[in-house]
Amino acid sequence: MLEEHYERRQSYRRFKDISVSERILNTVFLLTIGVGYLAALANLYYTHQGLDGKAGLSVEDVVISYHGANNQTRLGTAINGIMKTNLRYIGDKDVIMQWLHHGADEPEYIEKIAPILNRDCIGCHTPTVNPSLPDLTHYSTVSEVAHAGGASIPTLVRVSHIHLFGIAFILFFIGKIFLLCDLNVHVKRVAVVIPFAAMLLDVLSWFVTKEISSFAYVVIFSGALMGLSMGLQIVLSIYQMWFYSNNTAYQQS
Ligand code: HEC
Repeated sequence: MLEEHYERRQSYRRFKDISVSERILNTVFLLTIGVGYLAALANLYYTHQGLDGKAGLSVEDVVISYHGANNQTRLGTAINGIMKTNLRYIGDKDVIMQWLHHGADEPEYIEKIAPILNRDCIGCHTPTVNPSLPDLTHYSTVSEVAHAGGASIPTLVRVSHIHLFGIAFILFFIGKIFLLCDLNVHVKRVAVVIPFAAMLLDVLSWFVTKEISSFAYVVIFSGALMGLSMGLQIVLSIYQMWFYSNNTAYQQS
């Protein structure tokens, strides 16, 4: 009796134990997720590529997305470009650029920058005059165009929670199906954890990259690891569902 009970507990479900309709359902689910993932990759490409001014996706693009570019601020670009002619004294351009390079802090703003902006810029850059232009009348709004940007914390928090909730569901269902594979049990135990761990590392490294730009490599590595491990689970599951039969397993049970 006891032994029989024990035996039954040991027999886990495998793909050979599920009906063809369930396999069809699993397959269409996995294929849809696979296509969805490719679309997500394309979306990633289009939102990040070319940020560094060069076509294609690079580490630098990822750095700019999360950390911001150290040498490209909206104010710096404007003052070197179309807004230059608004300066009464061209030497003030260098004063502003120096300030940007020093980190655009408030004391120096009050001392050196505010007088220039008040004289040359706020004729147009005042909310009451042009609400659509950057407000250059006080530090907090000047600071927005004087800093490198990158992703803001609220944006990262928003994207993280959507990402974690959404992808956790996807990974859970993919993992549930994948567990029906006929595979070494230790491999499976590790394999179901990897995409979750990679996703958490990915999201965490977005926040770190905002501060430390070299973490862009971790963002890329963990993102790739998640995609790869998820892809392997999908491919292996579909393969075993339709093209694999382990006769020795039948004989043993
Ligand atoms: C005669 C009106 C006028 C004056 C004076 C002026 N600006 Fe502008 N500024 C504009 C307009 C219009 C735009 C929007 C241009 C566009 O989007 O193509 C703009 C855009 C900008 C932007 C945003 C560029 C972006 O990234 O979208 C910055 C920064 C800027 N100006 C800085 C300055 C500074 C600094 C000064 C003073 C040296 C100045 N502006 C003086 C009219 C003015």
